[in-house]
Amino acid sequence: MQDKDFITIALPKGKLFSLSTELLGKVGWTADGLSEKSRKLIITNETARLKFIITKTADVPTYVEYGAADIGIIGKDVILESGKDVYELLDLGFGKCHLMMAVPKDKRRPQLEDYNNTRVATKFPHIAEKFFAAQGMQMEYIKLNGSIELGPLIGLSESIVDIVETGTTLRENNLEEIVTIMNATARLIANRVSYKLKFERINGLVGDLSKILAR
Ligand code: PRP
Repeated sequence: MQDKDFITIALPKGKLFSLSTELLGKVGWTADGLSEKSRKLIITNETARLKFIITKTADVPTYVEYGAADIGIIGKDVILESGKDVYELLDLGFGKCHLMMAVPKDKRRPQLEDYNNTRVATKFPHIAEKFFAAQGMQMEYIKLNGSIELGPLIGLSESIVDIVETGTTLRENNLEEIVTIMNATARLIANRVSYKLKFERINGLVGDLSKILAR
């Protein structure tokens, strides 16, 4: 069996992983040993001609843009931040969250503009910059890779731009949202060339998933 017969699927570690494998499993796109805890980097289902790769969340669009993975599942926020050229096939509906700016409750300033020229800690500097530029604001972006909420709590930054899902992290750290930047959900994405070359299988998957999502 040649590689071109296989579909390679990039799945992100973290919150979207189990939701993604659960949904794909419903349409028979699965493999023995497909688990976030697996130390195996490629998990293959020879019979179904599927290869799953488990990557860091932010890397999914990269694997797909270069065609190392034919398709992938990833949040809209991560797609936009990456700036990668991938084909968005389907809104999967799960992984609902929003990207927002938050500050410590006791340090809230009256207007958004009052934060002009201050430091903001974020995993999403590109989206944040676009947002603030549209408000006529210039900010200093401090790129962090996790636990963003720590930034203003220890004086690294005045504010954060980060994802909120349940709101628990904000609450537990006495932070307050001051403006929503965008809403996001998980998307099925494809490499543009793979989508053409493997149209039948990928489009079949889109059809099968759409039926399940419509239920
Ligand atoms: C994300 C995000 C927030 C948290 C929000 O972090 O960056 O910290 O989830 O979720 P909540 O509103 O339900 O509390 P994640 O858990 O992905 O880890 P990270 O801090 O390492 O980025």
